[in-house]
Amino acid sequence: MRKSNLLLNYVKLGEYNRNPFENTHTKDINLASKINCIIMDIVIKNLVKAYGAHRAVDDISFEVRTGEILGFLGPNGAGKTTTMKIITNFLSCDSGEVNIGGLSIHEDADEIKKSIGYLPENNPLYYDMPVIDYLEFCGALQHIPKEKIQQRVREMVGICGISKEKHKKIGELSKGYRQRVGLAQAMIHDPKILVLDEPTTGLDPNQIVEIRKLIRELGREKTVILSTHILPEVEATCDRIMIINKGKIVADGTAENLKKQSEGQEILHVKIEEGDSNSVFTALRSLSTIAMVDFYDRSQNKFELQSRPGCKSAKEVFNLCVQNKWIITELTPFEKKLEDIFRNLTIN
Ligand SMILES: Nc1ncnc2c1ncn2[C@@H]1O[C@H](COP(=O)(O)OP(=O)(O)OP(=O)(O)O)[C@@H](O)[C@H]1O
Ligand SMILES: [Mg+2]
Repeated sequence: MRKSNLLLNYVKLGEYNRNPFENTHTKDINLASKINCIIMDIVIKNLVKAYGAHRAVDDISFEVRTGEILGFLGPNGAGKTTTMKIITNFLSCDSGEVNIGGLSIHEDADEIKKSIGYLPENNPLYYDMPVIDYLEFCGALQHIPKEKIQQRVREMVGICGISKEKHKKIGELSKGYRQRVGLAQAMIHDPKILVLDEPTTGLDPNQIVEIRKLIRELGREKTVILSTHILPEVEATCDRIMIINKGKIVADGTAENLKKQSEGQEILHVKIEEGDSNSVFTALRSLSTIAMVDFYDRSQNKFELQSRPGCKSAKEVFNLCVQNKWIITELTPFEKKLEDIFRNLTIN
């Protein structure tokens, strides 16, 4: 491995050239270890993976910064797992670049693997091994010094809540406990990067809360990519959301940004009393700022209004009611949920 690349792992935050493909800096290791701050950005460029004629990953590029938690969303078969397998080096790509902490997976695969903790989809485990033995085995595989393995396993058992089950064989565990063992093995070597493919699948609600909290804490200093189908989970856990559909990135940003971007037109829910529903409907439709009026509860005179692009309608609706002596008892901006955005972007 090239020395300059190895040293890139230890450069100081802020002094780091943000384009690792062009980076030739080497910084002072002592300084970096003093501030205990290791850059582990993931930079992906033009990644392609095809199975026959089908492109599972179709020319995607993105970056994940150190300390960022990225949530991968996408319908079944979108390419999330394939992307994660390539990042973790379990699968090779057809073309493109994956660069982690200044190292390329094409040239420095072994070095990169040491820095990654991976919880694969379906969580493959050795069912005949007791939990403790398995975790000790994983610790040894990850080159944890012998004298430290037991201490580290104890920590993981505590963090992942598997104390009561630790002497059972993995095959005797329930699905949720197997998932916890999978998480423990992913974190055993305290990796700088965590790639978690549906980490909370099969966990009970209490453990989901615990694991989300843990991921958030880990995300302060680690780079985390997780996939999930639970939309509130990405909002609760992730700094950034990326939606993948048919191997392509169709959205990338914070939950707030994604919601804003999808808000092309204002939508209001209004309830207007004292007026005949048809008269109110016609009057609302005649307002210059309104693009569309619909009943969402006719019996209660409740309407859904869509403003023209760039227009706001609340004042116009209020004035209209004053003129006609109608009474507004409800006027609520309708906020798009992540679920609506996901469906819009991924239903073809
Ligand atoms: N080994 C393989 N051989 C052929 N096609 C494959 C293989 N692995 C994945 N695929 C295809 O690649 C596409 C992406 O699959 P992938 O597992 O990455 O999806 P995903 O987003 O993780 O879906 P899910 O949400 O169901 O886990 C799918 O069309 C899948 O059938
Ligand atoms: Mg998957």
